[in-house]
Amino acid sequence: MILEALALALAGAHFGAPLLYYACMRRRYLGRPWGVRADEGYRPRVTVIVPTYREAALIRGRLDNIYAQEYPRELVEVIVVDGASDDGTPELVEGWAAEHPDANLRLIREAERGGKARALNRALRYATGEVVVIADADALWPSGALAEAVKWFADPTVGAVSCLKRPAGPGAKWLEEGYRRYYNELRVAESKAFATPIFHGELAAFRRDLLERLGGFPTDIGADDSHTATRIALMGYRAITPEGLWAEELVPSEGYLAWRVRRAQHLVQHFARAVSMARGAPPEFRLVLYAEAYLHLVNPWLLPAALAAALAAGPPGWALVGLGLALLAYKPYRTWVAMQLCLIAAALRNLWTKEVAWRREEKAPS
Ligand code: GDD
Ligand code: MN
Repeated sequence: MILEALALALAGAHFGAPLLYYACMRRRYLGRPWGVRADEGYRPRVTVIVPTYREAALIRGRLDNIYAQEYPRELVEVIVVDGASDDGTPELVEGWAAEHPDANLRLIREAERGGKARALNRALRYATGEVVVIADADALWPSGALAEAVKWFADPTVGAVSCLKRPAGPGAKWLEEGYRRYYNELRVAESKAFATPIFHGELAAFRRDLLERLGGFPTDIGADDSHTATRIALMGYRAITPEGLWAEELVPSEGYLAWRVRRAQHLVQHFARAVSMARGAPPEFRLVLYAEAYLHLVNPWLLPAALAAALAAGPPGWALVGLGLALLAYKPYRTWVAMQLCLIAAALRNLWTKEVAWRREEKAPS
């Protein structure tokens, strides 16, 4: 009886906390004005950094995509920083540059692969733009994305801007619509509250002087984008993902699970470090940071704890387990549970490898 009640309480807390957080954030912030003055006509100099490691299949399309942005070309500087790819990526970049003499493109070839963040820091040394935009090679932007991201920097209180994501490619079918809506609405609500601690390297824009004040991107943990955005918010600047800014991300068709676990590992590393810095944060952001840290670090574990209690409770507990399993037929629930298992696997896997330089999955263009 006691174990049964415990199992129910743990499961209730596990599913209740994120739903409550979502409901509160939605209610309180989603419909709110941004409280910053974006300016559609704002045209600073921009540096787009594309880090590449074995991106031969995608890099030309990505450069075309950046080239096609509706932003004055003379104000855009592109830096490709390649981590010693052996699949011809740098040669493809050189070829592309030769065909587009009007594009301001610099290629940096690293002598050896050293991870994304280190590559970004190397590129940063050459960056001259007021705004630096990270552009992963396996993403695509709508043609207005760059201007849409930059307009927010017209307001000096904005320090960083990132996108919402649309999964694309053959691997995307796994992702659940309902889950994505929950995820994206949370990002926007958090941004409106003050800042979101989750950024996306598919399009992550930062004020360059703030990056310099931070000494660049962190090279000892994986979530370079999210962690940098969080630190900028801790400095008192807004770090936001506006609802009108989207990027398409190619989801790997193979190695999907390993990919999810690795990204979860990076988020776990990020939040584990970020909570310890949350004290002096702007109050609204402190709350968001604690809530997200709880959801990523603690809450997933309530699920196996509930399962263990239910299994130990005997037949009535087993009935609960049966119910939990039957619910797996419901896709949003299934997606959520899979995410929790990824976070648990991630926390465990972080004990022996941080995956700061990671395996490159195969991604087919859609
Ligand atoms: N130069 C260089 N060196 N580039 C690299 C390296 C490296 O060692 N490793 C990866 N990259 C490049 C990839 O070619 C790609 O353009 C970009 O960095 C992101 O790599 P992905 O392999 O696509 O990472 P992801 O999408 O699974 O990871 C996501 O989460 C990370 C943090 O957890 C993205 O949002 C990343 O941007 C983010 O850093
Ligand atoms: Mn990617």
